[in-house]
Amino acid sequence: MSAFSPLDRRMMARALQLAAKGLYSTRSNPRVGCVIARGERVLAEGYHQRPGEGHAEVRALQALPESESDLSTATAYVTLEPCSHYGKTGPCSEALIKAGIGRVVAAMVDPNPDVAGSGLARLQQAGVEVGSGLLESEARSLNPGFIQRMESGFPWVRLKMAASLDGRTALASGESQWITEAPARLDGHRWRARADAIVTGVETVLADNARLTPRADLPQGCSSASEPPLRVVLDSQLRTPADAALLGEAGRVLILHRDGADSPRLRALLDAGAECAAIESSEKGLDLPSVLRYLGAAGVNECHFECGARLAGSLLEEGLVDELLYYLAPVLIGSEAKPIAEFSLQALSEKKAFKVVEERRMGRDWRFLLQPQR
Ligand SMILES: NC(=O)c1ccc[n+]([C@@H]2O[C@H](COP(=O)([O-])OP(=O)(O)OC[C@H]3O[C@@H](n4cnc5c(N)ncnc54)[C@H](OP(=O)(O)O)[C@@H]3O)[C@@H](O)[C@H]2O)c1
Repeated sequence: MSAFSPLDRRMMARALQLAAKGLYSTRSNPRVGCVIARGERVLAEGYHQRPGEGHAEVRALQALPESESDLSTATAYVTLEPCSHYGKTGPCSEALIKAGIGRVVAAMVDPNPDVAGSGLARLQQAGVEVGSGLLESEARSLNPGFIQRMESGFPWVRLKMAASLDGRTALASGESQWITEAPARLDGHRWRARADAIVTGVETVLADNARLTPRADLPQGCSSASEPPLRVVLDSQLRTPADAALLGEAGRVLILHRDGADSPRLRALLDAGAECAAIESSEKGLDLPSVLRYLGAAGVNECHFECGARLAGSLLEEGLVDELLYYLAPVLIGSEAKPIAEFSLQALSEKKAFKVVEERRMGRDWRFLLQPQR
């Protein structure tokens, strides 16, 4: 690893800002930004916008002014190691070599086993000075899902909850609209928009006729995705009605069910435009590790669960939650109201402990981002 200067840090911080513009649009690909600079002077910038479109480095190279034909004294700052393989686009390491770049600094090595250091090695072989590990933790936090999927096959599981001060989500009657106020709800829609898949349990579809679509403007400067997130219903017995509102919205709907489920219902859902797939079942419905493996194999990086207490309880009980997106409203709705998650413990020592990663005021509500204390 080479030593990095304050200027290197500033340039990489800019590349990270560019990468974040793809927060809502890169889908199964990572969010990546690139700055090409000579000393203090930024020559060109680029970021990856959508799958199948140019990678950050290629877009930055394309944005170079014609007068900048000699890059031997220039540095490319990239938030992820340039790729070395032929995917939907050519390898970025080759494009940088061809452009005659003098130095490449990456924030992190690509966790994709098809790359994993070979992009940087290729650059080095070609005589390019390389460095890596600059602002690595910031770069990793842009792509938790991509990194986890590459390393384990599992998507990043974010469980969204909105609760009262007494930890309740709805009255016993099911009435839940609304515990939190508009700013928190709008924020929740933005988190839906950045996910590759929004997942719920069939009871939420039956009770709320939930559409599960993101309905919020994106932050200024961010690219929009070419299609909405995949919406997924965990529905062992195919109880989702063929006229459910979520099937009337644009975008793909995937119903995961157990093997041997009723074939007329399967036919009706397929006719209504749903995709259906059989998954191993468990005592509580579907086997959740199998569900997550299936979604990971389908290219889902970030999986946003917005479900009722039953599915939320199973996810927590099985230790499958990577992040809690928890909205807390300063209201009390009483002990008869529904809990946020159904699970029980034998001893307090088994409690599910989380660390608060971020806390933020949202109008009169609060938003907490929490991760399990592992
Ligand atoms: N406040 C909030 O943030 C929020 C968000 C969403 C929903 N809700 C509320 O939650 C209520 C519904 O809650 P709910 O708990 O009955 O429904 P849920 O958790 O959304 O769905 C539960 C159903 O999912 C299926 N499932 C499949 N695999 C499962 C597994 N491994 N573990 C658990 N469930 C699995 C089961 O049906 P099968 O056995 O048929 O597969 C199960 O009955 C609604 O009233 C809704 O308004 C609140």
